[in-house]
Amino acid sequence: MKHLLKLLDLTGEEITDILDLADQLKAQQKAGVEHPILKGKCLGMIFEKSSTRTRASFEVGIHQLGGYAVVMSSEGSQIGRGEPVQDTARVLSRYVDGIMIRTFGQDEVEALAEFGSVPVINGLTDFCHPCQVLADLQTVREFKGKLAGLKLCFIGDGNNMMNSLIVGGLKTGMQVSVACPRGYRPPQEILEFAAGYGEDFQITETPAEAIRDADVVYTDVWTSMGQEEERKAREAAFAGYCVSAELMALAHPDAMVLHCLPAHRGEEITAEVFEAHAHEIFEEAENRLHAQKAVMVKVMGD
Ligand code: CP
Ligand code: NVA
Repeated sequence: MKHLLKLLDLTGEEITDILDLADQLKAQQKAGVEHPILKGKCLGMIFEKSSTRTRASFEVGIHQLGGYAVVMSSEGSQIGRGEPVQDTARVLSRYVDGIMIRTFGQDEVEALAEFGSVPVINGLTDFCHPCQVLADLQTVREFKGKLAGLKLCFIGDGNNMMNSLIVGGLKTGMQVSVACPRGYRPPQEILEFAAGYGEDFQITETPAEAIRDADVVYTDVWTSMGQEEERKAREAAFAGYCVSAELMALAHPDAMVLHCLPAHRGEEITAEVFEAHAHEIFEEAENRLHAQKAVMVKVMGD
């Protein structure tokens, strides 16, 4: 695996391999067994959007693997002043052993990989969030013991999270059902991919339909980073898409709830449902560390 640009590029086996390695690295970390697999290697990190989990978990993760990180944001670097990504790629490739980037357009990430000569990891774009979904799948396996055959339901925006969950879920043998308002469906590329999985994929405008008998219920913010001006319109469009106790009553009685965070209680999820499932949601947040370490080893390892 040369890069992690989007889950669409990976096979189900490659995803499972990453999850197996993530489990192994998690066990080693918990047991205090050192694992300096990327000793002396440097990860360059570029942030053109805010981050708490991605920033902290990548920086801690590369350190635990024996390497170190250099962090840059739009403000304070030439990226924010319009230096083309093609040039940034060719410069950073001469300093670092891998680049993690969080930005807006997926094309920026693809260009970084094309013009640079080191592995590139997508730390979130408007199109997808592959690192998050690897951690999500690791968490589902941890709580449910498997992925294949489980029903994953996403309620909310057809955004980066929904896109990556559809791809990651279907590629690992899950059934995926999503509920989103008209006008907020995932892009055509994702719908065409999902259509190849026949009845394992369902899309509806009715949350009560999507959540029926779900084993895993997932939601995310209604207004993603970069969409702040649409907030009012989105609040109106997503009224009725809140994951509440009433909605959860339609899911499988043992259903788990996941959220990539940050969460807006009272919008996409009630405080009651969030707190009832906090043990799952914060294990999911922890797994960002382990899943990303696995990705770094896969793409930056010898
Ligand atoms: N879930 C996630 O990517 O969190 P951050 O935006 O805090 O990195
Ligand atoms: N959909 C959200 C995810 C944040 C981790 C966003 O892009 O802002």
